[in-house]
Amino acid sequence: MTAPRDPTALPRHVAIIMDGNGRWAKQRGLPRLAGHEAGARAVKRVTTHARKLGLGALTLYAFSEQNWGRPTAEVDGLMKLLGHYIVAERAEILDHDIRFSTIGDVERLPRPLQDAIADLKQASSQNRGMDFCIALSYGGREELLRAARAAAAACVAGELSPDALDEATFERLLYTSHLPPLDLLIRTSGEVRISNFLLWQCAYAELVFTPVCWPDFGETDLDDAIARFQGRERRFGLTPDQLPN
Ligand code: FPP
Repeated sequence: MTAPRDPTALPRHVAIIMDGNGRWAKQRGLPRLAGHEAGARAVKRVTTHARKLGLGALTLYAFSEQNWGRPTAEVDGLMKLLGHYIVAERAEILDHDIRFSTIGDVERLPRPLQDAIADLKQASSQNRGMDFCIALSYGGREELLRAARAAAAACVAGELSPDALDEATFERLLYTSHLPPLDLLIRTSGEVRISNFLLWQCAYAELVFTPVCWPDFGETDLDDAIARFQGRERRFGLTPDQLPN
């Protein structure tokens, strides 16, 4: 369709619900894991393109808290794939000044994957070209509960007064405190729901849904989503007349 219309008005932070790997595989008579492998190739394609475009941050929903309930073989296959990806893409990430991070309960992940994540986070921590964040064992409700518990604990310890708990303070307790505000959420595969992803952060994000299954998602699809974002009027509760030109 169209290229991003205005390279100076890019979303600061794009998040993607990478959906449709299983259906993509089924349509081709392949096992579900082949869909996830093709999905990993799409991750590389889209991350490289996001960096070229100059996005500030890209967050990908790779594994939800609820995904632990999938068949063991699929969970194990996904864990292996994620581990392989992090090791294989390490040099590429570092060479392109990308800061790697994760959101979610990474302590539930297999130890070798945790170690690979910790290593890449540390090695890339000074990079500023783009934030690349993977949501792993992540749930939006779980993230909010974790932050609420931390705030309550700070109140009990006398370090925080309940009245001083404002949006900025609460945001610092979220997994995403190191990332810019979420401007655009994309979901692939035609499903139209948020599925427990970035519930707080989505408050004023623009939502773009595309029928393309994640393994087929490419550079043009990201360009199209950004063009749709740029065509939206973001009012943040104000009237059109109150908005700056
Ligand atoms: C949702 O599609 C996708 C997932 C639960 C896994 C996403 C994982 C990848 C894209 C591969 C590895 C990721 C990285 C970051 C290297 P689904 O399986 O629910 O698809 P379906 O709804 O068609 O069954």
